[in-house]
Amino acid sequence: MRFSVTLWLLAATISWAAPPSNIDNLQGTQSADRLVFCHFMIGIVGDRTSTADYDDDMLRAKSLGIDAFALNIGVDSYTDAQLNLAYQSAANNDMKVFISFDFNWYSPTSGASAVGSKIAQYANHPAQLMVDGKVFASSFAGDALDVASMKSAAGVPVFWAPNFHPGESDFSKIDGALNWMAWPNNGNNKAPTPGANVTVQAGDEAYISALAGKPYIAPVSPWFSTHFGPEVSYSKNWIFPSDLLWFNRWNEVLTLGSRFLEIITWNDYGESHYIGPLKSLHYDDGNSKWVNDMPHNGWLDMAKPFIAAYHAGAESVDSYITTDQLIYWYRPTLRGLDCDATDTTMVPASNSSGNYFEGRPDGWEDMQDSVFVVSLLTAPGTVTIISGENHQTFDAPAGASSFQVDMQVGIQSFALTRGPNVVLSGSSLKEVSSICICGIYNFNAFVGTLPPGPSDPLQHDGLASLTAGLHVSTCFPSPSLPATPPPPPTALPTTS
Ligand SMILES: *[C@@H]1O[C@H](CO)[C@@H](O)[C@H](O)[C@H]1NC(C)=O
Ligand SMILES: *[C@@H]1O[C@H](CO)[C@@H](O)[C@H](O)[C@H]1NC(C)=O
Repeated sequence: MRFSVTLWLLAATISWAAPPSNIDNLQGTQSADRLVFCHFMIGIVGDRTSTADYDDDMLRAKSLGIDAFALNIGVDSYTDAQLNLAYQSAANNDMKVFISFDFNWYSPTSGASAVGSKIAQYANHPAQLMVDGKVFASSFAGDALDVASMKSAAGVPVFWAPNFHPGESDFSKIDGALNWMAWPNNGNNKAPTPGANVTVQAGDEAYISALAGKPYIAPVSPWFSTHFGPEVSYSKNWIFPSDLLWFNRWNEVLTLGSRFLEIITWNDYGESHYIGPLKSLHYDDGNSKWVNDMPHNGWLDMAKPFIAAYHAGAESVDSYITTDQLIYWYRPTLRGLDCDATDTTMVPASNSSGNYFEGRPDGWEDMQDSVFVVSLLTAPGTVTIISGENHQTFDAPAGASSFQVDMQVGIQSFALTRGPNVVLSGSSLKEVSSICICGIYNFNAFVGTLPPGPSDPLQHDGLASLTAGLHVSTCFPSPSLPATPPPPPTALPTTS
């Protein structure tokens, strides 16, 4: 089976010649009708058979304040069947969707009429997102597309907001644009280096300058780590610096004030930037080696008040926090742990994409060995973080704050206290391990919360390839988080 999992490769080095900063005047001009999108991979959900299979995703996204899913499509045989189910589920649940064409599969040079007729096919569906009276559509890549021919083939008014790149396309022909680069990078789709260090804000500035007042879709992503070896044909193995990105970027987009933003992604498990549940029905493209037992739902929880603030045009999230919550995340092993003897990427694999590296994922030095905590507080409190033997407390103000402590092997515990009152207290279901889990370098994040959320195990289809290519026989295709956390250390303030 061939999955249309996108190989996020950028064709060429994008030059970010310092544009005049007109970010300051974006606020105001783009604050009306703000919309939040979330990128959804159709290529990994070919096993869905009914609209009901989409309902939980639609309802969950809507409850968070997400306005529309950007349905990423390639050219798989099941694409229309899945688009029909997704559009119908969206309509049933009062959500909106639009198509995001993936130009790793559609041809930028000859695909204009195919793109236009696909837009036309869904244009009248009640769940289709309309913006300014036009059918909204977007893309991943596709700079060479003939926009006039595409629009003519569509035969309906199209709001075309693709992931074209400043300097590589004529921005006078498009109606808006999506910047995909939600992570600090080197300008060539890899982690930054001291000589090539492109911030996400530099990307904002380049796009805003090129768009000259047209709407900007600002990217927001929590993480990036991928580790496909020779067991698949799309081998790739790198990270982008992630750490506290999810918290810092949300604060940034509140002050940036673009008309649109796009969360990257709902369900791209392979690149570890999913915020949707593990149980959201999907096939295993080989990602379960680093995704099993690694829920990200806490990142959804964290986004909720930020989305409310963004919709309201607020520059601070603080007055949108209605309940006390701690969201924490960390990698499951220390970055120095040596997994060379058993890792899946220690041998050559196809590198036609230039994305394959052997051993620790390229850029691994940019991930810190830290436990990250975001406190969302209705009133000031004290946050306790215990990582292994490392015990720290912090004064936390009302509103949203972030903290990080050095990560140690063992139990990870957290508490929120106010004077003598213990408001929240508990240990994580996931311990930091001193062994290589499934034998591999796993730079994905485990995300937990206090109060704890419901359990979220990967389902059968999502585990199907777990053992493919593994060099250990101690790892099984089944969820293995315990039902209850390990006993808390005595230093942890507890409610009982
Ligand atoms: C890139 O720049 C950021 C901030 O400007 C800095 O924190 C980071 O360490 C730099 N990364 C590298 C690899 O030089
Ligand atoms: C794959 O190609 C990239 C880009 O040319 C290169 O930096 C990298 O070292 C290559 N990987 C291997 C394992 O040779």
